[in-house]
Amino acid sequence: MLRLAHGMDPSQPVHKAMVLMAERAEEISEGKLSVEIYHSQQLGAQRDLIELLQIGSLDMMKTSAAVLENFSPQVKVFNLPYLYRDSAHELSVMDGEIGQKILEGGVPYYLRGLCYYDAGKRSFYTTEKPIYHPDDIEGLNIRVQPSVTAIELIKAFGGGATAISFGELYTALQQGVVDGAENNPPSFYFTRHYEVCKYYTINEHTSVPDVLLISEHTWKKLSEQEREWLKQAVKESVTFQRKLWRQAEQEALEAVEAAGVEIIRPEREAFAKAVEGLAYRLIDEPEVLELYEEIKNAE
Ligand code: GCU
Repeated sequence: MLRLAHGMDPSQPVHKAMVLMAERAEEISEGKLSVEIYHSQQLGAQRDLIELLQIGSLDMMKTSAAVLENFSPQVKVFNLPYLYRDSAHELSVMDGEIGQKILEGGVPYYLRGLCYYDAGKRSFYTTEKPIYHPDDIEGLNIRVQPSVTAIELIKAFGGGATAISFGELYTALQQGVVDGAENNPPSFYFTRHYEVCKYYTINEHTSVPDVLLISEHTWKKLSEQEREWLKQAVKESVTFQRKLWRQAEQEALEAVEAAGVEIIRPEREAFAKAVEGLAYRLIDEPEVLELYEEIKNAE
């Protein structure tokens, strides 16, 4: 029995995909490989869960690449703004050699990446002050995930950044600890943050994937056969999640709009320009720089 934990609620596409993965693992292995899922931060926030994997106290977890960059340096490249030309470019990176290399880059830290799940594009949402232009971010305190890259990105936009875990964010928004946050439409919707944030600005500054990890301690204990079962189940769950994701994105925007949120579609170029050159200022490891250029040059 493998134990898998994550911080999101069960209505999220990524949770449903991991449920499918667990079911498929059980079926393909004829009951010999099972995965039990703990959602909604039952076992802790992403950072805590990653540490549990490193010491071998938990088998698997799903994290945002934002938090993972603290543990597996290559992952930082995914947290840089306006990284891809379009979705086809993004998919070819994720599904290709670069994506695979970054998944395996966590092995020396006991964090073996199994796959990426789509977490769309992150955009700003605010409680009182709408963001129409990057200048509007000045003076706002924005919640980010615990990630230096995410913090520096908000600073580059002229705002202040406060790291808060996903599960504590609703209250932080409600109590005015922060003036806003940034996330993809399904997360904005499923967390009900739209109840307290009436402005959603589709500026799409980052495309930070979710990553499914297995502890290298656990991986070493699995037989060749068990690893194959797991890989197959994971692969099927990726296809399933992508399909669910596209629907969820559309539905989320419709639902929040119906609930009275003003959806702002700004000039995306102005946002990209405001943080131009940030990647080169933030990357201090040669291996990350190399990856960044490989991604930029990828077909
Ligand atoms: C996204 C991402 C999650 C992450 C969350 C956050 O929804 O998919 O993995 O936890 O953002 O901002 O904390």
